[in-house]
Amino acid sequence: MKITSADFIKSVADTSQMPRDHIPQIAFAGRSNVGKSSLLNSLLNRKKLVQVSNTPGKTRLLNFFLINNKFYFVDLPGYGYAKVSKQIYKNWQKLVENYLLQSTNLKGVVVLIDLRHLMTAADLELISWLEHNNIPAIIVGTKSDKLSGNKLKTQLKQNAILLKKYYIKKIIPYSSETGAGKNELWSSLLLVLDS
Ligand code: GTP
Ligand code: MG
Repeated sequence: MKITSADFIKSVADTSQMPRDHIPQIAFAGRSNVGKSSLLNSLLNRKKLVQVSNTPGKTRLLNFFLINNKFYFVDLPGYGYAKVSKQIYKNWQKLVENYLLQSTNLKGVVVLIDLRHLMTAADLELISWLEHNNIPAIIVGTKSDKLSGNKLKTQLKQNAILLKKYYIKKIIPYSSETGAGKNELWSSLLLVLDS
């Protein structure tokens, strides 16, 4: 995929502030620290377009990036961050849910899981919720470079077992360090954008 432009457009705290155009959007979701921002930078061949360090405040916003003037990537705030209070968590959930349900331009959601671990209840809850709401999902296993070939296979298998009762079975292994998985993920993204 040739990236001719990748621009940060805005951060929004409320769905009323979403871009008012008809450009398709793909959102990226996953546990805090799973590697969302790193994956976006890697996909877009940019080093610092998306902030990798954790800036509290920013992480509770929806961040819109316009790619090739053709589609948006939306970096969603990570879930499961232990230090947030119940009230903040509720607000976060509302913002993300409102966005996912209200964005008429949303084509799909990339769900990131950390391949070193098994999917969490929150990951499966999100996948189930997306299926229930007919929102196409792509599952990506991050940090594949941290696993040996054999261990990677086992982890993919173990996680696939957890997906048994869902429609999506495929997990795309990805490394933001090496770029492994980039072509496969782009193919899936372009399919979703074309649908
Ligand atoms: P929040 O925005 O805080 O929710 O985190 P995030 O999901 O955006 O994760 P981020 O990209 O900031 O990465 C978290 C940490 O994991 C950083 O220290 C990254 O360098 C590291 N990391 C992310 N992706 C990879 C990867 O593919 N391989 C390796 N080895 N490290 C990674
Ligand atoms: Mg991030």
